[in-house]
Amino acid sequence: MEILDVVLERMQLKHLDRVMEIEALAYQTPWSRRAFQSEITENSYAHYFVVRFKGEIVGYVGMWVILEEAHITNIAIHPDYRRRGIARFVLESMFEKAKELGSTKMTLEVRVSNEGAIRLYRSLGFVDRGIRKGYYTDTHEDAIIMWKDDLGPMKPRDQQVKWMV
Ligand SMILES: CC(C)(COP(=O)(O)OP(=O)(O)OC[C@H]1O[C@@H](n2cnc3c(N)ncnc32)[C@H](O)[C@@H]1OP(=O)(O)O)[C@@H](O)C(=O)NCCC(=O)NCCS
Repeated sequence: MEILDVVLERMQLKHLDRVMEIEALAYQTPWSRRAFQSEITENSYAHYFVVRFKGEIVGYVGMWVILEEAHITNIAIHPDYRRRGIARFVLESMFEKAKELGSTKMTLEVRVSNEGAIRLYRSLGFVDRGIRKGYYTDTHEDAIIMWKDDLGPMKPRDQQVKWMV
């Protein structure tokens, strides 16, 4: 299966040109380079990964892990590589990483209009837990707060994700 060609690698400064390119294609109000820089160099709670498909960076994901709670802060896949199950694979990999780091549950916010992402999260077991009114400062759109309360048991070693340093 194609998804076997997907590998996650810890995000580094040298990846940021490509990350910024994908960020600009993914969001109307992209994060700044400085925001990514600060996440990967200054925030000890942050865990960011680029997603390689057949060697090429096609997306990235970030999460904060604070004790038993993991918080997905950003996930984006390049438009040319969407609807192949890559984001699903990446989030399932984050479940494993979060458990490895001691978390038992995961949360994220999503724009109420982002139907594709909401469908993805629900299919992975996230449920709606509330609304943050006007959360997004660019459009004042509301955010849905979603939680996955049980990340499940650790997978057997032979089924675990292959991570690059
Ligand atoms: C949301 C995003 C990360 C999904 O990435 P992806 O790799 O295309 O997602 P997957 O292929 O793993 O999708 C798995 C399932 O989620 C649902 N889904 C994902 N994108 C969807 C869309 N645009 N419309 C409807 N359903 C969608 C589908 O059920 C899909 O399964 P299917 O393709 O068999 O129907 C990607 O569209 C993206 O980068 N968007 C811009 C950034 C963004 O909105 N990030 C989320 C912010 S909270």
